[in-house]
Amino acid sequence: MEHLIHLVYLAAAICFILALKWLSAVPTARRGVITGIAGMLLAVGGTLALLWAEVPAASWATYRWILTAFVIGSCIGVPMALMPMTAVPQRTALSHAFGALAAALVGTAEFYLRTPQIGTFVMTALALEVLLGYLTFTASLMAFGKLQGILPTRPMTYRGQNVVNLGLFGLAVLVAIWLILHPGHRALFPVLSVMALIFGICLIIPIGGADMPTVISLLNAYAGLSASAMGFVLNNKLLIIAGALDGSSGLILSIIMCKAMNRSFANVLFGAFGQVQMAAAAGEQKPAHSATPEEAASLLENAQSVMIVPGYGMAVAQAQHAVRELFEVLTKRGIKVAFAIHPVAGRMPGHMNVLLAEANIPYDRLIEMEDANIEMSQVDVALVIGANDVTNPAARNNKASPIYGMPILDVDKARTVMVIKRSLNPGFAGIDNELYYLDKTLMLFGDAKAFTLQLVKQLGANAA
Ligand code: TAP
Repeated sequence: MEHLIHLVYLAAAICFILALKWLSAVPTARRGVITGIAGMLLAVGGTLALLWAEVPAASWATYRWILTAFVIGSCIGVPMALMPMTAVPQRTALSHAFGALAAALVGTAEFYLRTPQIGTFVMTALALEVLLGYLTFTASLMAFGKLQGILPTRPMTYRGQNVVNLGLFGLAVLVAIWLILHPGHRALFPVLSVMALIFGICLIIPIGGADMPTVISLLNAYAGLSASAMGFVLNNKLLIIAGALDGSSGLILSIIMCKAMNRSFANVLFGAFGQVQMAAAAGEQKPAHSATPEEAASLLENAQSVMIVPGYGMAVAQAQHAVRELFEVLTKRGIKVAFAIHPVAGRMPGHMNVLLAEANIPYDRLIEMEDANIEMSQVDVALVIGANDVTNPAARNNKASPIYGMPILDVDKARTVMVIKRSLNPGFAGIDNELYYLDKTLMLFGDAKAFTLQLVKQLGANAA
């Protein structure tokens, strides 16, 4: 029986690896999700069967507890899964919080069950599990609160903050080492747990909302490492593998996101991004040119090529289906239409790809940032829909700008630029966008969905 279960675990591990591989490309993403679900079913089924094989007599009582936890978890998980696409970052933060709490609680139970007869290796894994688990729990809840707008999104800083944070973390590590050497000193365990919980809060306080998606990806890595450590404590190879996959993919994703924003990890964690630039953005009054839907439609129908640049505003307005209609109406007129995708447009990696794919926009019309920039100077109209920071030329021109060095879509190099957004307000980074004041730029003020539908209507009326 045990051999069979190990084979099931192996199949589950292969499913997880394939799921990660397939999830990394949009055409295979659906297959990746299904394979991941299959892997998880195998893992859970295998573990329940293992329990039955090891202690058949005690099983029913244990299964009852598992069933209760399953029902409670489902009651929380199902509504969470129904949250809108734009809320995915905060939904992910909540999942990490629960995952990390589960790992930390298992670690706590194992500590009190096993000490003082616990080996140094297992105690080391347990200390790591609890430290990472509890700190990820509170940090993820804080991240959720900031993204959901329950907590202030601006970074909260004070003098000596990094020293306090590092000092607290250093003390927690010392307590953990002491416990590894003297596991019988049980009274120190709650101290370690509380320190980790407090450190999680302190870690997030100085980080602004704009950096939160990157931090969430990092917390994903911590939760994965905590689960992996739990695998060593429970001697469960599948947990070790799944946790390590989770941990490493979270870390790789954070690195990719940092690169796309030209930030370093240290900068994200200690930089308090978003504070100075808010002030800089305030009070600037420059003239910007605006246009009506009729004027914009006439410019579009006279263009030979149009590059659409979607951003967070398109996602909140749920304008993707209206954008598909615009794409169809322009393509029917023989106009070449493509979509320029910035890697951090929106609020999570792949945000724009997912929304456009959901609206059935042909995938081969989506162009990555580097390729789009090569074409940009040949484009007649760059139509920016609800994007802001990812088009800000300050990232190229202004050394003093906090986004200086971040790769952007060079829409200012197109012959004409049109921007659909509701006002001249800054985007998530909180900085003004000089693109809006260029002579070649026309602001199309309005909601992304409503304005795009007006363009479709006007183009249809012009054609009739
Ligand atoms: P943003 O710079 O946040 O700009 C979005 C714009 O959409 C806003 O300026 C807003 O202007 C407009 N908007 C909001 N609701 C709208 C509506 N209903 N209709 C029309 N426009 C609307 O978005 P972006 O250009 O996509 O840049 C993404 C930002 O998120 C970057 O700063 C990036 O660094 C950050 N970020 C992203 C990620 C990932 S992985 N995606 C991760 C970390 C950080 P109005 O209020 O004037 O309408």
